[in-house]
Amino acid sequence: MKIILVGFMGSGKSAVGRELAKRLGVRFVDIDELIVKREGRSIAKVFAEAGEPYFRKIEKQITLEVCQRQDPCVIATGGGTLMDPDSRAALKRAGTLLVWLKVSPQKALERTKDHPVRPLLKEADPLNKIASLLAVREPVYAQADLAVDTDHQSVEQVIQEILAFIEKNKKS
Ligand code: S3P
Repeated sequence: MKIILVGFMGSGKSAVGRELAKRLGVRFVDIDELIVKREGRSIAKVFAEAGEPYFRKIEKQITLEVCQRQDPCVIATGGGTLMDPDSRAALKRAGTLLVWLKVSPQKALERTKDHPVRPLLKEADPLNKIASLLAVREPVYAQADLAVDTDHQSVEQVIQEILAFIEKNKKS
């Protein structure tokens, strides 16, 4: 089984994914972490030194590789991973369950403002940038099998909601 977490920056994909993987006793795979490892530099540096198109190329390469693996795992994507049509198709094919962690623009800003690792939010008006990115991305995130609110729920509550969904769908 592969559980794939999608959603905007600050929705908690990495925090939820790491803990969910532990509970399920499977490996946790973080696409952003794999990019950093392969590149030997931070995501901010990849954007600054090589540009966003290069970042997207590596992101797609790694996503397609991860989708090839057969072992059960929880995968945390980056906020933009699902926007690439090839990555989207591969993730949908590989994923037993695609989960959208929903976050409002205000919460996304609150959770990311002290994390300078988000080059896309280095803007004079980050809230406006978040709102315009979300407007384009939400219809794509919405293709997930399950949407979970993260604005009003702790990491633990989000995990419980995902586990309950898995349990319910096992029985039916
Ligand atoms: C991005 C989200 C980031 C990271 C990169 C681009 C995006 O991942 O991949 O900064 O396009 O939304 P997180 O969603 O894990 O912050």
